[in-house]
Amino acid sequence: MKVLVCKDYKEMSVEGAKIVAEVMTKKPNAILGLATGSTPVGMYQELIALNKAGKIDFKDITTVNLDEYYPIEPTNDQSYRYFMNDNLFNHVNIDKNKTFVPLGNAKDGEEEAKRYEAFVRSLGGADIQVLGIGRNGHIAFNEPDTELVPVTHVTGLTEDTIDANARFFASADEVPKQALTMGMGTILSAKKIIILANGKGKHDAVMKMLKGTVTTSCPASFLNLHDDVTVLCDEDAYKG
Ligand code: PGA
Repeated sequence: MKVLVCKDYKEMSVEGAKIVAEVMTKKPNAILGLATGSTPVGMYQELIALNKAGKIDFKDITTVNLDEYYPIEPTNDQSYRYFMNDNLFNHVNIDKNKTFVPLGNAKDGEEEAKRYEAFVRSLGGADIQVLGIGRNGHIAFNEPDTELVPVTHVTGLTEDTIDANARFFASADEVPKQALTMGMGTILSAKKIIILANGKGKHDAVMKMLKGTVTTSCPASFLNLHDDVTVLCDEDAYKG
């Protein structure tokens, strides 16, 4: 694992965007694996600026996202589809028909998980996968547990996550109780991975991942099985 310690969130976002831009320049029809959450927003803003400046082109780019609530309508402003449109796709010259997020409104979640897994595999995996990391070491909706499911699957949200997200919905009852998420195996099928972490709250998870061993109690530690991972963190996340 390569570690790049940046002075702050802005520098981390710029460095992350540089790595993604490099992949896009080398391969104009690259497949980008993308993530939601607050962490990559700054990096998406940098990518938008590079696109507006004519330095990168999204015309032939395909994207695959890590996860989505289930069930949820893509038009719901809390859906990850909405987030991606709002934070990136609406601001760059991408063909939205080539942007993929698990379908939160699929009739059958298990079938959708199977379809999405097969789809990502049929693309040969992402050329680069962007990741955030949870305070507890989660990656997408792969939460610490005694076992992890390696492929795309339906998973229950923890009570903590439901409570934390209740403020974004009209009531706690409206928070989806499940999610569709790539598994760690799907994520590891990417050719290159960057993982972004900022703030002291991420320090413990980052240290557990950087220890170099693999444990289901820290899903991010599975990234040690991949030979092209760059950890981009700010000083707070690195030093604690
Ligand atoms: P955050 O979430 O970017 O909002 O901190 C990261 C994650 O939970 O993966």
